[in-house]
Amino acid sequence: MSEVQTVDNMVTISIDGIEYKAKEGEYILNAARANDVFIPAICYLTRCSPTLACRICLVEADGKQVYSCNTKVKEGMEVTVDTPNILEERRAIMEVYDVNHPLQCGVCDKSGECELQNYTLEIGVDSQSYMIPDTKREATNWSSVLHYDPGLCIVCERCTTVCKDMIGDAAITTTKRGGSEVDKAYKESMPKDAYAMWNKLQKSVIAPSNGTGETNCSDCGECLAVCPVGALVSRDFVYQSNAWDLRRVPAVAAHSSDGAQIYYEVKPTSIADRSEKIYRVTNEWSFVSLDGSARFAYDFENRGATKDEAAFNAALEAFKKAETVRFNSMITNEEAMMLQTLKEKMGLKLYNPEVRAFQKFLGHYTDASGASLYSTDTDAIMKKSDFVISIGAALRNDSPALKYAFNNVQKLNKGAGLYFHPVGDTLIPTFGKTVEVFNHKVGLEEAALYLVLDLFANKDKLPADVKDYIESFKSTETRTVKEQVMKTVKEMVKNEETGEEEEVSKKVKETVEKEVTVTINGLVNLLGADSEKFDDALAKMLKKKEAFSMMIGEDLYFHDKAENLAKLVALVEATCDIDVVMTPPKSNALGVALICDLDDEATGYTIGYNENGDFRLSGLGDGDLDMPAMNQQEGTLTSMGKRVLPTNAALEYGGYELNDIMKALVDAPEETIEWTAMLPVAKGFKAVEFDSLPNAFTNDGRDNRGYRLDVSAEEVELPAVEKFDEDAVLEGDIAYRCNPARQFNDFTDKSHEIFEAFALYASPEKAESLGERAEVVFENGSITLDVVADAKIQGDIVKVPDFKSAQDVYGLFGDSRYQTVTLRKV
Ligand code: SF4
Ligand code: SF4
Ligand code: FES
Repeated sequence: MSEVQTVDNMVTISIDGIEYKAKEGEYILNAARANDVFIPAICYLTRCSPTLACRICLVEADGKQVYSCNTKVKEGMEVTVDTPNILEERRAIMEVYDVNHPLQCGVCDKSGECELQNYTLEIGVDSQSYMIPDTKREATNWSSVLHYDPGLCIVCERCTTVCKDMIGDAAITTTKRGGSEVDKAYKESMPKDAYAMWNKLQKSVIAPSNGTGETNCSDCGECLAVCPVGALVSRDFVYQSNAWDLRRVPAVAAHSSDGAQIYYEVKPTSIADRSEKIYRVTNEWSFVSLDGSARFAYDFENRGATKDEAAFNAALEAFKKAETVRFNSMITNEEAMMLQTLKEKMGLKLYNPEVRAFQKFLGHYTDASGASLYSTDTDAIMKKSDFVISIGAALRNDSPALKYAFNNVQKLNKGAGLYFHPVGDTLIPTFGKTVEVFNHKVGLEEAALYLVLDLFANKDKLPADVKDYIESFKSTETRTVKEQVMKTVKEMVKNEETGEEEEVSKKVKETVEKEVTVTINGLVNLLGADSEKFDDALAKMLKKKEAFSMMIGEDLYFHDKAENLAKLVALVEATCDIDVVMTPPKSNALGVALICDLDDEATGYTIGYNENGDFRLSGLGDGDLDMPAMNQQEGTLTSMGKRVLPTNAALEYGGYELNDIMKALVDAPEETIEWTAMLPVAKGFKAVEFDSLPNAFTNDGRDNRGYRLDVSAEEVELPAVEKFDEDAVLEGDIAYRCNPARQFNDFTDKSHEIFEAFALYASPEKAESLGERAEVVFENGSITLDVVADAKIQGDIVKVPDFKSAQDVYGLFGDSRYQTVTLRKV
């Protein structure tokens, strides 16, 4: 299958008499923005559904007043942004927003970047025509990161909308405020949209949807990012800085492979201490949504490192006697290229277990498909897909971007979804009414892919043996079912007029039994669902669906049958109309997988780079030689979306870098970023200089950061796939290597706004049976952890995190993400 094409049909519209091209089906507001035309708008969020809360986006289209955020463009449409009536409405709306808004701009965290301030000035509100008694509204904390001040809230509903439509938690909602009623006399005297908006505004505030006063959500912070005023802010940022004092450094979120765009916002620590620190992370929220690690795990820098010459010389000696470098994915492409150069020039082994399994999987996939990389990405899925399938990923924990895409497809594209995973997650079924969850046994991931082939493959393209194998799971059964039929019965009725008895016919319902033949799909039952119910559900799910996509997760890379799974994925792409995205397991796993020839084991004297080793290079400040952390480095990262993205140093770093070691050991350029143009072209990288890489989105939301990897494709024969063993499943107590959401590595753990513990996560029932602390005994060792009940986990499988490298959890799990274990109360 080729790369997803997002070529749209275009129409011509005019705005204020000037002709523009616009995508067919686009809202007027988005079409205007894409063409650099400004229409005032407060409540609308690109990539979410319109809520019509603010009504300020009024325009005239073909002579009718409409809301530009929910009216679609049509060929030849004539749009006028400002008419006398619309200007009057907008002015009245802004006056209403300003009624009783507290006069605390001097200390408000949003001052200087507040949309209420901006629009009040833009629309020229210099007097107030309206008044109403105010009601006291107390500020409150909803979670460890969210602070809400309802007195500042303009009830635009951006926060609730982004949480529902994008993040998928739907953790906050509008609720009754108990405000004064708007004087009915205003109905006659003020513009009608402003009056309607004011009535709604007086009635509502925002609150956690579960009624507890606490959000118990993903703590992603996207709600506070989209808040146009100072109502919703990070608890940590309250009263810390004026917006205009902060310097924005464009960067890439360091901790997951989502490649999310961020700005580190920095300024001096204090009047006395002029060294800079990061005060917060912000994002272009119209085009990208962050997870909690991207937003809150920012203060992980290696502060105070100096050029320690003795440590540097010791490092050189260590490299000279080393056999292996052990490292992880918290490394730039340039550093990965340096390590690969060391391998080539000094014969060092490169050991990176979190990437090695992914690299092998990609290799098998390429052999089987002829394509150097998978065919789609999260942006394309959100824009186009209306049917998503997820296999082998704990979406909420592994890949926030894929979780958002899975949810967003349900909410915005009227989509449907299939979610295959052994660990139950209470959140996934809430994404949409047509989401089917298969909590299958561990080991049946091949069965999930065979079911996808069964449901979606063009059977003419499937090899005969695969077709026969799939059919072998089908059987028919004869069932006796009860059915209601209408039956005609005759009865004698007395004629009221003549008094005589007459025979009349009437229809009555009758229950009859009949025999039907039903087809049972053994694959569906094997995967833990009910074949008959699923058949009915699927028929509904497939209605009007056109664009299918599949998300593949880490469980498939760390799997005994990884090679067969990779071939099955290639077969799905070749025979079904389904585009595929794979989740690189950790931040720059895709970059490392493409750049480095990794080895299967570490031998001899080992240098650990942010990992265990005989000599440790560390960006965490706890090694034998300091290295810069990711927020102190310039370089590039390769994202799940197959983009090579530039990231910049937010903070100073005073110590040695990997390139200093390179310069001392082998031939190396003067600066780290000179390696950017040396990344391997044969693997899809481009020979371009770091400083020439673009780093922005276009106005219509296209990601124009860095560049896209070249993906090559060759014609190959369909892969020969193996059958699977239905009995090769794990039974008993099972541990799953899986981090809590927001925790990805030692660097997130170091950040002060990330609180999730290195603990054993279990469903509330399982946690109760385990008590406060438990020992998890593996074949080759054990680990003892506090037990944390996670209300979003269902079932008996427990989650063991891997984010602390010193614990070597990869060593305990080996080549699989699941292991049968013994769980002991401690
Ligand atoms: S932090 Fe994220 S999940 Fe929680 S309420 Fe805000 S947007 Fe929703
Ligand atoms: S908290 Fe902010 S984003 Fe949410 S409704 Fe109020 S003003 Fe809008
Ligand atoms: S932006 Fe259209 S109603 Fe608010």
